[in-house]
Amino acid sequence: MATLHHMSRRSILSGLGAAIGTMTLGSHRAVRARSGALFLEPSQEKRKPSRTITAITLGAGNRGNVYGDYAAAYPDELNIVGAAEPIEIRRQRYSTLHSIAPGNLFTTWEHVFERPKFADAIIITTPDDLHYGPCMAALEMGYDVLLEKPISPSEQECREILAKVEETGRIVAVCHVLRYAPYFQKLKAIAASGVLGKVVSMQHFEPIQHLHMSHSYVRGNWHNSKETTPILLGKSCHDLDIIRWIMDQSCRRIHAFGGLDWFHSGNAPEGSTARCMDGCAIEGSCTYSALKLYHRSRNYTYVFDLPEDEAEHGPAILEYLRTTNYGRCVYRMENDQPDHYTVNMEFADGATTSFNMEAFTSYHGRRTRIMGSEGDIVGDMTEFVHTDFGSGEETKWRSESDGHGGGDWRLLSDWIRAIDAQDRSLLVSTIQESVESHVMGYRAEKSRLNGTVEAVAL
Ligand SMILES: NC(=O)c1ccc[n+]([C@@H]2O[C@H](COP(=O)([O-])OP(=O)(O)OC[C@H]3O[C@@H](n4cnc5c(N)ncnc54)[C@H](O)[C@@H]3O)[C@@H](O)[C@H]2O)c1
Repeated sequence: MATLHHMSRRSILSGLGAAIGTMTLGSHRAVRARSGALFLEPSQEKRKPSRTITAITLGAGNRGNVYGDYAAAYPDELNIVGAAEPIEIRRQRYSTLHSIAPGNLFTTWEHVFERPKFADAIIITTPDDLHYGPCMAALEMGYDVLLEKPISPSEQECREILAKVEETGRIVAVCHVLRYAPYFQKLKAIAASGVLGKVVSMQHFEPIQHLHMSHSYVRGNWHNSKETTPILLGKSCHDLDIIRWIMDQSCRRIHAFGGLDWFHSGNAPEGSTARCMDGCAIEGSCTYSALKLYHRSRNYTYVFDLPEDEAEHGPAILEYLRTTNYGRCVYRMENDQPDHYTVNMEFADGATTSFNMEAFTSYHGRRTRIMGSEGDIVGDMTEFVHTDFGSGEETKWRSESDGHGGGDWRLLSDWIRAIDAQDRSLLVSTIQESVESHVMGYRAEKSRLNGTVEAVAL
């Protein structure tokens, strides 16, 4: 790697692709600006595999469709030839979209492995506690794997999956999709280039957004840490992974604080009812009213299997609110996930990092600050500014993208090429590093619950 001792910071920046040309921001700062689709040129973005990779999806829910939609968009790269999904309407819709032969459709994942191997790869998008079984079975049978995060809610199972990957030599991509987002790839490239000097510390902040919190971690599938995964692993394993990746060394010690301060029965307003449509006295003014969120505003309705005809959506949503957790009062759930969480980390060379996950924000978009001896970075996932201490120059990078920074499909594209070439080095995220950042999460949760400082060792 080139360091500042060997190259000028200006030439490194130029090599990283910073545009030449300045514009003025404020009274005396020269700013190098780049805007538009910055980091991947269209020609670089799509490199075709030599053949079409075939895959079987386990779990045709939200994520199974994110990856399935790639196959629909690029059928010459990925062909979904089988699926396992217990919910009939999801199974039917998925099989229609991908023209799956009826004999290759199954209700649950186990049935896929009762058949001899009939595809290159398995896409595991089942709920958190159903990753281990299918992953181990897939590896045993010689499939390559796309594995949703978290690898498993259990540390022991993570380690067993890692050992099985090493034993079988299969290609396994863990869906730490942020690593594939151009924004984070450029942050990583700058930190690794040496232009920041010695990276001394980093602050990383994940604003969940208050309604997203209520939807996924108070009412939704991840509301109870014992039934699914502690929120730090379920939600923020992406962030621990990004921190580990950018710091480029192992975490040595970790400690954490946090808890569930707001969404519990102690804060249930007077006159509120078990369900928002049960005649709740404050429904009309409640920020978290399910009727307002799902029915009137039509937010987060992707979790419902709605009829094709939009005119029927209203009654169908109301039925879901009558019968599922999505219609329940946010103060009367069995949720236990913290709504604020603070983690401090010390790395092998003494560098430190702090991470905050916060429910109560009006905005999304991870905020990151990286502090080095020769420069710093301040970013919000849409743009970041690198300031070079020596010259005083600021370089601004912008990236327009979705909530995962465009990482979902870029991950899939790399995974397909890695399978095609049978070369795991084409993946940005190795399972070894993914397990390491998961272990950081397990130790942080242990620290939060026990009030301890925990050593992190693989
Ligand atoms: N990478 C990311 O950023 C990201 C984002 C969201 C979710 N996830 C993870 O992806 C996974 C899936 O999440 P989701 O949001 O798609 O959930 P989902 O509930 O929408 O989809 C899961 C699907 O699995 C199906 N399923 C349940 N039991 C099954 C079985 N025995 N065999 C086959 N299918 C079964 C369910 O019916 C459902 O359709 C979870 O582990 C989640 O934590 C990752």
